[in-house]
Amino acid sequence: MRTQVGIIGAGPAGLMLAQLLHLQGIDSIIIERKPREDIEGTVKAGVLEQFTVDLLNEIGVGDRMMREGHFHDGIELQFSGKRHRIDLRGLTGGQRITVYPQHEVIIDLVNARFNTGRDIIFNVSEVSLHDVDTKEPKIRFKQNGEIHEIQCDFIAGCDGFHGPSRLAIPDSIRKEHLHLYAHGWLGILTDVKQANPELIYSNHDRGFALLSTRTSTLQRHYISVDYHDDIANWSDDRIWSELHARTAMEGWTLPDGPINSKNIVQMRSYVLETMNYGRLFIAGDAAHTVPPTGAKGLNLAASDVKILATGLAEFYKSGSEDILDRYAEIALRRIWKAERFSYWMTSMLHRNPNHDSFERNIQLTELDYVCTSVAGSKTLAENYVGLPIQWENKSLIETK
Ligand code: FAD
Ligand code: DHB
Repeated sequence: MRTQVGIIGAGPAGLMLAQLLHLQGIDSIIIERKPREDIEGTVKAGVLEQFTVDLLNEIGVGDRMMREGHFHDGIELQFSGKRHRIDLRGLTGGQRITVYPQHEVIIDLVNARFNTGRDIIFNVSEVSLHDVDTKEPKIRFKQNGEIHEIQCDFIAGCDGFHGPSRLAIPDSIRKEHLHLYAHGWLGILTDVKQANPELIYSNHDRGFALLSTRTSTLQRHYISVDYHDDIANWSDDRIWSELHARTAMEGWTLPDGPINSKNIVQMRSYVLETMNYGRLFIAGDAAHTVPPTGAKGLNLAASDVKILATGLAEFYKSGSEDILDRYAEIALRRIWKAERFSYWMTSMLHRNPNHDSFERNIQLTELDYVCTSVAGSKTLAENYVGLPIQWENKSLIETK
């Protein structure tokens, strides 16, 4: 098999990249480890920045999202028994977030891919990358017991945190940063009416809770737990009892109902600075992971592939490698800011068992400052709705 860009992984990064390239007349082949039903059925993210919404519209896959997504002008932060609204729209000159589930984005992208007449090769195994530091890189993989090879001009490693692409960069060159957190998030999907018109992030003495939504009858909620905890220890009653306690407000009751899925995910921050090696470019969770508190992961995948696709389009149009050479530099400006924001939101909203009473009061005072000062709430709002891509090394003021 031969193509211009070989894409490993059919997550949001790989599928958005394929569509962006297709619209520039650039051919790609996508390989994916899982079956189609799995990628279309796995519940993950929910919050899309305006940037991601605009990108999905630009590549022609936004129709259903615009019909079925929920547009939120604000979020609420709860602590010390009170709720405070952050007016995202008012504080950012009209920007907002859209709640539309990641697996629905995947369904829309897979349909768009098949509409282009190009395939996705599912159920692959034993994926390996070869000659990535030459002009003829190759991907080998196994499917239905047979070994196949894709020869390409470029490889895009969009295979998530556990994929093989990153490891094709020699250890001596690969520069990375990892930070682990003690807590994980226990997430549920529940068939019940919406708890609140906007998302609620709560820092309670018992721990963190997040009330989010999917549709008017299906809700997505999270509580922080010890990452090593086993989901089997969490009966539905125990989950609801924690959610009730951590979001309690006088005169308000959290609607509860049947839980139809629950799992625990680890929280980590990870940045691969070497996002490019020869003809290999790494994008999305394969290059960086954020704790989910800032709702940034999928949105960073979108900006990475926008930058990469722009660089590849420039290369095929004019032979210039200017943007490709600067891919990591441009992408990392936005990535580090999202890493900082996600780390900050996580530290501000989660109970830290090692904190003394002084540190606990500093944490609550920080929340109070963020919610009651214009400067504080603007800082949260502009990061939450998403910062722009800084194509040049200019300040954010000059970029806007
Ligand atoms: P992935 O989605 O991980 O896709 C990678 C793909 O590569 C997968 O399909 C995988 O099967 C495939 N793959 C792996 N190995 C191979 C291989 N060897 N060969 C071929 N294919 C392979 N982000 C937000 O922006 N907003 C949110 O609100 C948000 N909430 C979240 C809540 C939770 C609980 C979690 C867990 C995550 C959340 N995220 C959120 C993060 C978001 O889900 C991820 O950042 C996003 O999925 C990254 O997309 P990706 O395409 O880079 O990687
Ligand atoms: C959701 C996930 C997040 O990580 C977040 O910060 C907000 C909402 C969600 O799944 O709806």
